Amino acid sequence: MKVVTTKEELARELAKLEGTRSLVMTMGALHEGHLSLVERATAETDHTIVSIFVNPLQFGPGEDYEAYPRTLDADVALLEPAGVDVVFAPEVEEMYPREPLVRINPGPVATVLEGKTRPTHFAGVLQIVHKVMNLVRPQLAYFGQKDAQQLALIRTMVADLDMNLEIRAVPIKREESGLAMSSRNSYLSQAEREDALALSRALADGKAAADASGAAGEVLAAARESIEGANVRVDYLVLVDPETFQELEAGAHGAGLLAVAAYVGPTRLIDNMEVSIA
Ligand code: PAF
Repeated sequence: MKVVTTKEELARELAKLEGTRSLVMTMGALHEGHLSLVERATAETDHTIVSIFVNPLQFGPGEDYEAYPRTLDADVALLEPAGVDVVFAPEVEEMYPREPLVRINPGPVATVLEGKTRPTHFAGVLQIVHKVMNLVRPQLAYFGQKDAQQLALIRTMVADLDMNLEIRAVPIKREESGLAMSSRNSYLSQAEREDALALSRALADGKAAADASGAAGEVLAAARESIEGANVRVDYLVLVDPETFQELEAGAHGAGLLAVAAYVGPTRLIDNMEVSIA
């Protein structure tokens, strides 16, 4: 496995690879969730490239850009036995030698939920995803369903800009407790980890209501009742259309996505669960 930090070195390594290639983009601080993306990528293509880059453009003022965990040596040690061919871990100056002037406008889906609280987030995500896809030119790229809105926007960018690759989604990895794996879980104290379980519990309670043939209104009510009184500050807990991310009406039918964002102490966590409303 080669670890490279410049676009030039990356191009040199890519030129040596024959066959299909996949891309797994990360911000590092790798956990089992990331490794499940890598596992799919290495199984389904001849070569896998993993990028590790804490992208300043996707953090807003006052967010955790400076504090975001940077654990390159540990990340490389996890990727080495996983069958990865190349790790691309550039510095900020390599990716953004100057403030980019041409920007990707992610459109209306980026204005709700995550985009409402973090208005510049998805434009920053799509900017780096587009750049790294251009550099790596993979046939397949893998993204986690935990960032469901991000995944939907990346799919839309790939379709709307005729980018020549396929996006594959990988299910959320959860700890035994139900907590969705996230690099930001490392910010949580033991007590906060307990508090954080309120998120996945609310989603599971909403899903149980859907599985018991509850109407959309009942599904949402079950999830909201579940999280009421928990030691978290809810940003949103909604039942949305999984493509448009618009909230579903109380009488809606079909596929829905229960999505939650909440602050556990100062840490903002997100989670989601697919539900089917009869
Ligand atoms: O999901 C993430 O970790 C990031 O948003 C991504 C896709 C690596 C872009 O920086």
